[in-house]
Amino acid sequence: MSRTAVIRGIGAWVPPRIVTNDELARELDTSDEWIRSRTGISQRHIADPDMATSDLAVEAGGRALKSASTASVDFVIVATSTPDRPCPATAPSVASRLGLGTAAAFDVGAVCTGFLYSLAAGAGLIAAGTAESVLVLGADTFSTILDPVDRSTRAVFGDGAGGVVLAAGAPDEPGALGRFDLASDGEGSDLITVPSGGSRDPVRTGPGRAAEAADPYFRMEGRTVFRNAVERMAASALRVAGARGWDVGAVDLLVAHQANLRIMNAVADRMRLPRERCAVNVDRVGNTAAASIPLALVDAMDDGTLRPGHRVVLTAFGGGLTWGSCALRWPDLVAG
Ligand code: ACO
Repeated sequence: MSRTAVIRGIGAWVPPRIVTNDELARELDTSDEWIRSRTGISQRHIADPDMATSDLAVEAGGRALKSASTASVDFVIVATSTPDRPCPATAPSVASRLGLGTAAAFDVGAVCTGFLYSLAAGAGLIAAGTAESVLVLGADTFSTILDPVDRSTRAVFGDGAGGVVLAAGAPDEPGALGRFDLASDGEGSDLITVPSGGSRDPVRTGPGRAAEAADPYFRMEGRTVFRNAVERMAASALRVAGARGWDVGAVDLLVAHQANLRIMNAVADRMRLPRERCAVNVDRVGNTAAASIPLALVDAMDDGTLRPGHRVVLTAFGGGLTWGSCALRWPDLVAG
């Protein structure tokens, strides 16, 4: 029987500080009513100023390792668009701080699809026999790249981290990851972007001038992205369910990237999946980018909407543009 990556543990963490819509409305020209009705979000967790993405990733990673009852893995993959520093990658520091010795470690940049891309990379390493076990984390502190005066992004994003431990197993086991459906469209790279600070538009310095970037903040063309996200996620989710031989009625839970409640409802409607079969925690955590899917999985386990044996479809869409999905039967796990 072919060697397959199986989910053996899961954990997630959000920073304790909660920022409500009303708090945002005291600073920005917005309102609780606007944010709730346009996004479904009531609050988000925001990292303290001295917290970096690796701090969140270490908390989530420790919980995932505990859930898998293991203290070692061969690889650590961190999906993030908000690395601690542009160079080096964040994953090696996360691996060291988790006591994982000299485990191989690298970052994946696929914005809000980063967790699914990383899961596919980890599963591929296991299927190829390069690794026996992989810790796959999604971690982002978008609060560090948001324009303080941009109400459309500040209303949406929150900080968090989550991840799973993958290990070698058999394709018919619960938790086994099947074929992934992954894609990108670089024609849309300007729709979700941090325009400056990279090699296209580097940080400038000059005599007597502090180093500065022309536009160091995250920018998103929300309306165009919205349409793309709905079409891409619905089609991709249907493809992976179909590849497993499941019709839509057989899907117990759709765990979509928690970008916006309206997007998730539109994806469900397009798939003809009852809306109640979508995992939702965007109301409590906002859009946590690469952390979104593992955070939603842990919350769904906690509230009983995700149970062992469930047929689950994971789907995401994000900057790049990137999107993708995978389908699995949920294993019997206790979140760390
Ligand atoms: N409060 C009040 N008004 C606001 C706010 C706010 N927080 N934000 C925007 N507005 C205003 C706009 O300025 C605009 O005003 P105007 O008509 O006077 O110009 C009006 O509301 C409508 O703006 P839209 O951008 O069309 O609002 P929309 O209903 O689309 O909601 C949002 C914006 C929430 C960002 C939505 O477009 C969205 O969720 N888009 C998709 C996000 C997504 O899926 N991203 C991909 C993954 S994320 C990633 O990869 C990082």
